[in-house]
Amino acid sequence: MTIDAAVAALRRGGLVAFPTETVYGLGADAANPDALARLYRVKRRPPDHPVIVHIAHGTDLDMYAHDVPDIARALARAFWPGALTLVLRKRPERVADAATGSRPTVGLRVPDHPVALALLDAFRGGIAAPSANRFGRVSPTTAEHVRTELGPDVDVVLDGGPSRVGVESTIVDVTGAEPLVLRVGGVSEDDLARVVGTPVTRRDTGEIAAPGTLASHYAPTARVVLVEPARLAQRITEATVDTARIGVLALARDLPETLPSEVTVLTSPNDIDEYAQVLYARLREADARGLPQVFAVPPPAQGIGVAICDRLHRASANASAARR
Ligand code: TXA
Ligand code: MG
Repeated sequence: MTIDAAVAALRRGGLVAFPTETVYGLGADAANPDALARLYRVKRRPPDHPVIVHIAHGTDLDMYAHDVPDIARALARAFWPGALTLVLRKRPERVADAATGSRPTVGLRVPDHPVALALLDAFRGGIAAPSANRFGRVSPTTAEHVRTELGPDVDVVLDGGPSRVGVESTIVDVTGAEPLVLRVGGVSEDDLARVVGTPVTRRDTGEIAAPGTLASHYAPTARVVLVEPARLAQRITEATVDTARIGVLALARDLPETLPSEVTVLTSPNDIDEYAQVLYARLREADARGLPQVFAVPPPAQGIGVAICDRLHRASANASAARR
C-alpha cells in the first residue's frame, strides 16, 4: 500500500496502521471525531483513555499545544524523532476531545520511522494512534501482527518491517512543576535525567494520570510467570504441566545449560536491546504455538531493561488476575 492511499483513507475518516520504531500504531485523523469513534470501537478501548497524537516535526509543537515549557522543548530537541511522548496542554483546534478522553492535555510524539514520517508529512495533520492491538493485548511489532489481529477492521496497513525498539514510548508529563514519567519505555530514565538535569520522578502506579497503563496490559493468552535467573532450571523441573508446553524467554546468559530439550526456548537474546525488540513477537508466538505458560526471566532493570521488566510484570499480573 502506498502513502497516497493511506492519506486518502485518513482523509475519509478511515483507519491506517503504520510502523513506528517502537510498535505499530493504528492511526486516525486526530481532528475527526467520527474517525476517532471508529478507532475506539476497533481498539475496544474505553472512551476516557486518551491516545497519543503523532506529529511530523518537533517545530510543530505549538500548533498542537499551548504554554509549552522550556523543558518540553529541550526534551523534544534531544529525543525527537524518537520513543518519547510529551504530555502538554492541548490546543483544541487540531486535536478533537475524543482523542484525549476530553482531557485538557494531549500526548504528542514524533516517531522515528521513515514510513511514519512520510505519512505524517503527506497528511499534514496530527495522527491519533494507539498501538494497533485490541485493548489490553500485546502490541504489534510487524505488519503481519496487525493484519492477524485486526483483519478487515483496518483500511490500510503500511509495512515498514519489524519495529526496531520493540517497546512503546516513554511518556513524560511536562504540564506540572516537575516532569513526571507516566510510562517507562524506549527512552531510558538515565537519558531523560541527562537532559532534565536531575533524576526524573516516576508516577506510573496507583490512580494514574495515564489510563491504559493498567496492571492488566500487554498480556498474551499464555500465563506469564516471572522467574529469577538462578531458579529457572528448578522451576521447570517442578512444573506440573508437561515441559513441552512451557515457553521460555531469557537472556542467553541466563539460560541454564541443563534445560530439558522439550522446553520451547522462545528467544534467548544476547542483550537487552534485542530482548526489547523481540519481546512482543515472542509472546505472540507463544499463543500461536498454543503454549499455556511462558517462564520469563526479566533482564537487569537498566536502560530499556526497565521497560521490559515493566511489561513482563504487567503481562504476569494479567495472568494472576485471570486465574482468580
Ligand atoms: O510507542 C508508542 O507510544 C505507541 C506508538 C504507536 O506511538 N503508542 C502507544 O499508544 O503505545 P497506546 O494508546 O497504546 O498508549 C498510549 C498511552 C496510554 O497509556 C494513555 O493513557 C497515555 O498514552 N496518554 C495519552 N495521552 C495522554 C494524556 N493526555 N495524558 C496522560 N496520558 C496519556
Ligand atoms: Mg497500547
